[in-house]
Amino acid sequence: MSQEVLLLPGDGIGPEVTAQAARVLDWMIDHADLDLELSEALVGGAAIEATGEPLPDATLKAAREADAILLGAVGGPQWDSLPMAQRPEKGLLGLRAELDLFANLRPAILYPELADASSLKAEIVAGLDILIVRELTGGIYFGQPRGVEERNGVRTGFNTYVYSEPEIERVGRVAFETAMKRGKKLCSVDKANVLEVTVLWREVMTRLAAEYPEVELSHMYVDNAAMQLVRNPKQFDVIVTGNMFGDILSDCAAMLTGSIGMLPSASLDVNGKGMYEPVHGSAPDIAGTDQANPLATLLSVAMMLRHSLGQIDAADRLERAVQSVLAADHRTGDIAATGETVIGTQAMGDAVIAALQAQ
Ligand code: NAI
Ligand code: MG
Repeated sequence: MSQEVLLLPGDGIGPEVTAQAARVLDWMIDHADLDLELSEALVGGAAIEATGEPLPDATLKAAREADAILLGAVGGPQWDSLPMAQRPEKGLLGLRAELDLFANLRPAILYPELADASSLKAEIVAGLDILIVRELTGGIYFGQPRGVEERNGVRTGFNTYVYSEPEIERVGRVAFETAMKRGKKLCSVDKANVLEVTVLWREVMTRLAAEYPEVELSHMYVDNAAMQLVRNPKQFDVIVTGNMFGDILSDCAAMLTGSIGMLPSASLDVNGKGMYEPVHGSAPDIAGTDQANPLATLLSVAMMLRHSLGQIDAADRLERAVQSVLAADHRTGDIAATGETVIGTQAMGDAVIAALQAQ
């Protein structure tokens, strides 16, 4: 039985970059023996325009039935005045919550060809290849109670930082399993010197380590981790952390590699089913102009092949194709140095398909 991939193009450059993903997957179906079926549904602003809702029932149903989901991006200025609950972003958050996508994987890889794009010196980032596993559906972003209220005549804002043992354990397992497939080094980031929640976090990670004797587990306080990411990022292989720390650290790690147009991500559920998406947004400033870099999306496809569809060879092949395209100096505007020839979204898709063909 073929595996089902649901494409959710969304808004802005979302449809442009997802179209390149569809072309690459179609090529693989035809030439690399992949048994996949692609379908498409509406999410975000595109869904609001068609149905009035950012996450229509039909989309949620299709997402539940699919083996993996590839999302472009959602949002744009034309929906910014809508109330929070009706905005395009709600479509994305709704999918994460409904599908219980609790493990967010964000690799930060510096391609040698793009070494100049990093904000750090070449010798500090050369060969960088780290992966941050961020808990995505718990922690202080979701804890109750929360709000702003008057307490003894003083306006007071409050949020609750909460993690249960099972929540920590399931994301810990994803991190250990991921580390097993990589450099077998896992750094768990917490603030166990101050926050009780993360004392429990550290305890659970330490307990899990006994089941993964091959993985070398270390612990680091989040403030130090931020410092180390900038000072000596190559000391890390896999980092696992909670929702808020992961949000901040993953953006920091992303910038070590330069362009937002190169960064993929995965959000997985407990069975390894996942939603894959580029880290960037809908880029309204360049939407519809064939300028978007599709590589973050194509690298997200590679993650999808690897983590949800069990197609490791195809994933490797696609990642190699991206690398060879960079080596051959194909550049969209976001990764081009001054004076370098710039190509468009379509042409970059062509180049990747040609590179796949050439392997
Ligand atoms: P953005 O990531 O869309 O754009 C930031 C800058 O990076 C822009 O100058 C854009 O042109 C450039 N850029 C982004 N992706 C690119 C690509 N693939 N190739 C070349 N250049 C690229 O972030 P921004 O401007 O803060 O947000 C725009 C809209 O996207 C907002 O409505 C926001 O809410 C939404 N958004 C959606 C996300 C998602 O769907 N996961 C994530 C972040 C923002
Ligand atoms: Mg963020």
